Amino acid sequence: MNKRIPILIASASLLVAVGGVFVALLAPGGSGQPIPNFVDSGDDATLGEKLLDDYKARFDAHLESGRPFIDAFFSEIRLVDFATVGIEPEFVLADLGCGVGTLPLALLAQDIPFKKVYALDVNTYSLDFLRYALEKGISPKSGRVFPKRSKYTDIGLQDDIVDILFIVEVPAIYYSLTMTGHYQDDAEAFARMERLFATIRKAVKVDGELHFIYPTQTPTSGDLDPAALVEAMSRVGFRLVQQSTVALQVENYYFIFAQSESTKSDRSVRTPGAVAY
Ligand SMILES: C[S@@+](CC[C@H](N)C(=O)[O-])C[C@H]1O[C@@H](n2cnc3c(N)ncnc32)[C@H](O)[C@@H]1O
Repeated sequence: MNKRIPILIASASLLVAVGGVFVALLAPGGSGQPIPNFVDSGDDATLGEKLLDDYKARFDAHLESGRPFIDAFFSEIRLVDFATVGIEPEFVLADLGCGVGTLPLALLAQDIPFKKVYALDVNTYSLDFLRYALEKGISPKSGRVFPKRSKYTDIGLQDDIVDILFIVEVPAIYYSLTMTGHYQDDAEAFARMERLFATIRKAVKVDGELHFIYPTQTPTSGDLDPAALVEAMSRVGFRLVQQSTVALQVENYYFIFAQSESTKSDRSVRTPGAVAY
């Protein structure tokens, strides 16, 4: 037989295989399209339903690909190594502005021991996506994640239950607190934050913590101002305990705040790291 024939067959098979992967990556709803960190629907119900259906289809296609479920998500919070941030097995956690729930899903993917996590957002479509993802049998601990709608000025949790509250990349909160960006000099926006944080202070245990994570720089809004954030947080009842940076897809600030009235000595300094799945 002509020696070239097996080589030709092998090359053709390789082309078909590579082509197949390429087509799968490009196909609508294929595993190549990451799921954004929230359903950006505003008040538009038609858009909300459409995006929700699309993200569900992307998730289904991703699960069928056999890759780890957490790789389906765009948000870089999945890359935080949650074993390094001080979560203890009996802790009740909350994630305010959770979007599609990348943080709680990352806790499950990394098998972090915790008691429960409230996934809170003002957008019902994001929460519906998270419920859908949790029902897919991705983790035996899915039942520890509680998606719950919150209000712009009310976190909507019981008093004194949260050990660590996470706020991850929520521009509306950062800019309202610092009265910059869309909320430049907007005293009403800050007043809404005072109302929101009054409810946060009640929900977070007096010796609990608030972890605020945000890119040091974003293409649309430039540099985050850490001093302005710390100052604004002190006005709503939280004092800075620790500030560091963590390199995810881009560099992020990782702030740890405690309630201003907490007399508990600070827990040991932690070095939040990044994880590779
Ligand atoms: C850019 S997304 C970030 C999602 C997620 N934290 C992440 O990093 O992947 C911001 C989310 O915050 C929500 N949000 C904005 N203001 C909020 C507020 N006051 N309370 C609760 N959620 C809020 C939005 O609906 C949106 O889902």
